[in-house]
Amino acid sequence: MSDPSGSASSTGVVLEADGLTKHFPVRKRGRELLSNVVRKVRAVDDVSLTLRRGRVTALVGESGSGKSTVARLLAQLYPRTAGDVRLHGESTTVRGGRRFRAYCRQVQMIFQDPFASLNPVHTVRYHLTRALRIHGNAGDDLEKALADLLTRVQLTPPERYVDKFPHELSGGQRQRVAIARALGADPEVLLADEPVSMLDVSIRLGVLNLLRDLKERLHLAILYITHDIASARYFADETLVMYAGRVVEGGDSETVTQRPAHPYTQLLIESAPDPDQIAGYRLSEKDRGTGEPPSLINPPAGCRFHPRCPHVMDRCRTELPPRFDIGADHFAACWLYDRAAP
Ligand SMILES: Nc1ncnc2c1ncn2[C@@H]1O[C@H](COP(=O)(O)OP(=O)(O)OP(=O)(O)O)[C@@H](O)[C@H]1O
Ligand SMILES: [Mg+2]
Repeated sequence: MSDPSGSASSTGVVLEADGLTKHFPVRKRGRELLSNVVRKVRAVDDVSLTLRRGRVTALVGESGSGKSTVARLLAQLYPRTAGDVRLHGESTTVRGGRRFRAYCRQVQMIFQDPFASLNPVHTVRYHLTRALRIHGNAGDDLEKALADLLTRVQLTPPERYVDKFPHELSGGQRQRVAIARALGADPEVLLADEPVSMLDVSIRLGVLNLLRDLKERLHLAILYITHDIASARYFADETLVMYAGRVVEGGDSETVTQRPAHPYTQLLIESAPDPDQIAGYRLSEKDRGTGEPPSLINPPAGCRFHPRCPHVMDRCRTELPPRFDIGADHFAACWLYDRAAP
């Protein structure tokens, strides 16, 4: 978690989000066209997180909880409604142009579908050369720079891959090319939005291990977005859980997955494919909770999870719970942990 007392560099902090908020306007239809009311999708509300050198932070949550929107805000692909993004302690707002390119050199994104993110008419050589040139990293020996990038993502020998088209590669190899392209910028931060969820289960681990190797060797700060909380335990140092646009729990991955505090995290673990693998923890039938994620246009008042929560109390319906510290490096935004409550 962010350490307000230490300077950004002394604590390895590279990128921080503070109170990040994104509301998308909803396009008006029918009778709404005549009214002045602007409806909004509250995709992300007041999200704060800290990415550090050589650390993986997982952002976990179900579909529509706002994970990709957080990544896009951190990548400065969207303007934010409120909040701050700080790179090395400096507040940054960039929209296009040279400053955006300078920002991208340090903060790179990897997407879920490597087939969609690589251009099918161009070879691996084209994609990587372009990345190296745009960011001024091609050096005097382009062939060597290309071979180094491919070796770094374990596509060896490089000459076997460099002139291939995306369709000539497997899904895992394509994602490795997408990662190599991101590394072409020589970044400090990788924002990986569900980087393995479209890959065959058998090769997911290989790609996660590659990312871990890059974290260790290049000291990258990695944001790992996933809906699979089991992989967060395996791969991430720290885990944040999002529900309906808000962070509801966070802490070191071992603690969050072994001793989940927020009822939503408990539900997520319960519905993970193999909960025993994550924790010896099981919910009773009564505690299982029901229902669907809420609308983000009219989200529930108070705690957004309250309509599904098996522990709901009166105040949950009206008062938004702040973050309560539960232990060292572990918090939950849930009234169950309010020690001041009568
Ligand atoms: N450009 C946009 N315009 C309007 N609404 C948007 C836009 N992008 C996302 N949303 C809405 O914001 C909410 C969060 O979307 P987001 O894609 O961030 O979720 P996610 O957690 O990444 O989901 P998934 O796991 O399915 O990828 C959703 O309700 C979505 O419909
Ligand atoms: Mg997403």
